[in-house]
Amino acid sequence: MDKILKLFHSLRFRLIASVVTIEVVMLSLLVWNNIAIIHSTHTDRLRDTATSMIQQIANTAGNYMVAVDYATLEDYLSNIINYKELAYIIITDRDDKTVIALGTDRPQARPAIDAHPAQVDDGIFDISQDINLAGQKMGRVLMGFSLSLMDDAIHKSRNRGITIALIEIILTIIVTIFIGLSLTRRLAILSKAAAEVEAGNYTVSVPTEPKDEVGKTAAAFNNMVTEVSRRTQQLLQEEEKTQQLLNENRQLIQKSLEVQEEERKHLARELHDELGQCITAIQADATSITDLSPQCDKRVVASAQAILSVSSHIYDVVHSMMHLLRPSVMDNLGLVEALKDEIKAWNKRHPKTVCVHYFEGELSELGERINITIYRIVQECLTNIAKHANAEHVKIKVINDNKKIHLSISDDGDGMDTGVTGKHLGLGLIGIRERIQALHGVFYYETAVNDGFRISIHIPLDIPEIDT
Ligand SMILES: Nc1ncnc2c1ncn2[C@@H]1O[C@H](COP(=O)(O)OP(=O)(O)OP(=O)(O)O)[C@@H](O)[C@H]1O
Ligand SMILES: [Mg+2]
Repeated sequence: MDKILKLFHSLRFRLIASVVTIEVVMLSLLVWNNIAIIHSTHTDRLRDTATSMIQQIANTAGNYMVAVDYATLEDYLSNIINYKELAYIIITDRDDKTVIALGTDRPQARPAIDAHPAQVDDGIFDISQDINLAGQKMGRVLMGFSLSLMDDAIHKSRNRGITIALIEIILTIIVTIFIGLSLTRRLAILSKAAAEVEAGNYTVSVPTEPKDEVGKTAAAFNNMVTEVSRRTQQLLQEEEKTQQLLNENRQLIQKSLEVQEEERKHLARELHDELGQCITAIQADATSITDLSPQCDKRVVASAQAILSVSSHIYDVVHSMMHLLRPSVMDNLGLVEALKDEIKAWNKRHPKTVCVHYFEGELSELGERINITIYRIVQECLTNIAKHANAEHVKIKVINDNKKIHLSISDDGDGMDTGVTGKHLGLGLIGIRERIQALHGVFYYETAVNDGFRISIHIPLDIPEIDT
């Protein structure tokens, strides 16, 4: 079935089939028309010949019949009976009795008279004519003409017509196949070349000779391929440049993230070392003032206590700033403990929401870059949940399957309508995407109104050390 359908789709087949069909129909009509004309010409000629012969015999026979000279009349008729189409001649007297009967194909009884040779069904065209003399009926002439010679002639003409038509059909088929093949062969070359261009080969070119319609199409095709090739090349170069710019930007972002982290780390250390030391010294001094105050002067003691309480408040503020800048637990106890610490503190700050965590696989040897990336992403996501989600439950999963790190953060909060243009383009999510792309990872999120927010991240572990 498929093969037949394919055949019908072939231009070559359709061309040949339609030309041959038209040819067969037209030639059949022509042959049929010719046969009809030949038939009517022959029958009309026979009718005219028969009519004039019987008229002549009727005119001549009258005189012989008056003289009852049947012998001479028979002589006269025996010359006529030799006429090749004539089957019989019968002369009857006025009582309809046969007086002369000539010819081999004479009928047994009186034959039925035919109006026209075309309406004959027994192979003999029978006619009759009264023999009149001076207004008196003397008798009747009956003649029969055989149609076999006429039928032979018609048959031969028909055969000749059919033979000529067949030769013409065969010649047409040969010429059509020849033209069809040469045309479709060139079209096939064009279609093959188009397929190659589609597959990305822009070096193809098709022959443009002879310069007929197909040749012109081929020339236009070659020009088109050259133009497409030029533009593709241009696009590729531009894409390469864009990709290079993108890579440079990523490196820049990565570098600035690292600098930022380094700066935070440095600041945290400075705060710890300098301010921490100073506050401790202030607190020690305030305690000494109390101790050294003569007779424990109440005003001095109160002032020293105030210094102690303010300095301890400063210490708390500085401590929490230090934690935000750089969680020391990350350096001391690793990613998992730092995350647990962060989640615990977050749960404390947001009692209406419960955040649970799930860790799986080896997570203690991921390296500084992955550790800080995961930590900062969790921080940003928890901040987002507190800011936008109105959630009751939050789940954070970190899994190492030895090929990738899978991080997911999901909540059951209000979610977001992603159809609202621009709403999901905050700096937080863009920052997450940049951090993940710098590590050759994948980041995506799913959300819908009242259906929570789910972030999924996959970071490959076999990434090459990222260029700085
Ligand atoms: N957990 C969440 N639930 C519901 N909507 C969220 C959630 N997280 C993010 N969104 C939506 O996504 C938007 C983009 O978040 P993103 O963190 O990029 O920006 P932001 O939090 O609005 O601002 P920024 O982080 O720059 O301070 C948010 O404005 C908020 O509409
Ligand atoms: Mg945010």
